[in-house]
Amino acid sequence: MIDKCGRKINYLRISVTDLCNLRCAYCMPADGVRKREHRDILRLEEIVNIVKVGVQLGIDKVRITGGEPLVRNGIVQLVENLAQIKGLKDLSMTTNGILLNKYALELKKAGLDRVNISLDSLDRAKYKKMTRCGELDDVLEGIRIAGEAGLSPVKVNVVLIGGYNDDEIEDFVNLTLKSDIEVRFIELMPLGEAKSWPMGSFISKETVLNKVPGLIPLPFKGHGTVARMYKLPNGKGKVGLISPVSSHFCNYCNRIRITPDGKLKPCLHSDQEIDLKNAHPDEIKRLLYEGIKSKPNKHQLDTQHVSIVKRNMNEIGG
Ligand code: 5AD
Ligand code: SF4
Repeated sequence: MIDKCGRKINYLRISVTDLCNLRCAYCMPADGVRKREHRDILRLEEIVNIVKVGVQLGIDKVRITGGEPLVRNGIVQLVENLAQIKGLKDLSMTTNGILLNKYALELKKAGLDRVNISLDSLDRAKYKKMTRCGELDDVLEGIRIAGEAGLSPVKVNVVLIGGYNDDEIEDFVNLTLKSDIEVRFIELMPLGEAKSWPMGSFISKETVLNKVPGLIPLPFKGHGTVARMYKLPNGKGKVGLISPVSSHFCNYCNRIRITPDGKLKPCLHSDQEIDLKNAHPDEIKRLLYEGIKSKPNKHQLDTQHVSIVKRNMNEIGG
């Protein structure tokens, strides 16, 4: 479907839970989140129905996010049901990778195409500190197993944080030397917990290019692409730079989001929410249509340095 700015909207991101087995400091309060009542969360059948209607409106790409999607009961069954929807060309998941060791093969068999794995440090102590409980080795194992299971291309999402992981940029880039993974550096966005973080925590994608001047730019693919791609001269993998703050990609935006409690968010950085919970399929179609038509043309992060959004990232879907 085409929105009011002429953008083709074909990508739906669904957050299936706001719960997580980690507590990343920029994403969640230290004491976690209050568990929502079951009745307030989209049922798995509701999610499948919404995607079916979305596909009728031109959605052909779906990402399952969270919180941590692998802590949602029935997640493999959900993947299987979504993978069977005709017209869906790409089904992926963003996960912190902690449980991939257990689930990667099952997910692949159920029809998941690929995974993005969030990993912000390659240092055990630093990883544990930022996630407040995570074990780095579990994620590294998850990345390996995901590759073996064929959930490829495996992408590793690194949120850039000044004073935390800017000294590890080269190490992350070097992961692409021998392995055909894609390492993507993402600028920290001033929303949720990170809203009140000092300016020094926010560093732009230029920092990466300054630290690793040997990166070679690859052609920009345009529509729906949020990452600018690079590679090392002898690298097997690729490096992506995603800059939601310093140079927003709203012009190329092709996505809408659904929160765990069933709110359609046409734009991540807008407070506009459309309730899909318990809606009849005809109603869902009308609401999705309206949501896409009313998608804001751009956000203001580059000029205001604070998102107006009240939800934390785990309540929206990263
Ligand atoms: N800025 C950028 N990325 C974020 N994520 C969570 N909060 C933020 C933020 N403020 C990312 C996580 C993960 C996904 C769930 O969203 O690192 O990759
Ligand atoms: Fe969990 Fe991802 Fe938030 Fe970390 S960033 S607490 S892994 S949802």
